[in-house]
Amino acid sequence: MQLRPERPDDATTIHKLTDTAFRGMPYSDGDEASVIDRLRFAGALSLSLVATHGDEIVGHVAFSPVSIDGVTADWYGLGPVSVWPERQRTGIGQALIREGLARLRSMGAGGCVLLGDPAYYVRFGFENDPDLRHAGGPAWAFQCLTLNGSRPKGEVEFHPAFDAA
Ligand SMILES: CC(C)(COP(=O)(O)OP(=O)(O)OC[C@H]1O[C@@H](n2cnc3c(N)ncnc32)[C@H](O)[C@@H]1OP(=O)(O)O)[C@@H](O)C(=O)NCCC(=O)NCCS
Repeated sequence: MQLRPERPDDATTIHKLTDTAFRGMPYSDGDEASVIDRLRFAGALSLSLVATHGDEIVGHVAFSPVSIDGVTADWYGLGPVSVWPERQRTGIGQALIREGLARLRSMGAGGCVLLGDPAYYVRFGFENDPDLRHAGGPAWAFQCLTLNGSRPKGEVEFHPAFDAA
């Protein structure tokens, strides 16, 4: 398996992969693939990595800027992240997330936030912090990871591309 930034001709496959991975998930609103398209269109896909096996894309993760108390502070939101159903639980998601976080850290990013299952994301160091909040979603699912410097306090907003069309 190899990891690399997306290329322009990957967009259609990433859309299909994301749609397929999230289909039927209880937490899915069916909009995840379009969120990635909107982020890309807005120039807000700060980091978009694919995992490949031979010529095939087998997984994808997106990172985009978030604001904290209305100010962008070099913190990023992780997601959507997707692996083809038949390839899940073989380490692809973890490899993508670890690589993405390492790249953010070396870019000097302050940190990363996400909405997801803590049972999965604790392995990367994500945790709940009552001082860094997000109004849209259950508090237990909102997690953060500091990458450089100190952790800010405040209300986090994801990029407007996450708002349903
Ligand atoms: C979530 C996802 C990206 C993880 O990628 P993956 O390649 O399947 O996962 P990995 O192989 O890297 O990790 C497997 C480990 O994660 C655990 N895991 C996978 N999905 C999990 C979940 N939703 N909740 C808790 N644990 C999970 C597995 O039990 C396994 O644990 P172990 O290492 O202790 O055995 C992938 O399953 C996926 O595409 N899911 C559908 C889309 C989705 O839900 N995206 C994330 C929304 S927050």
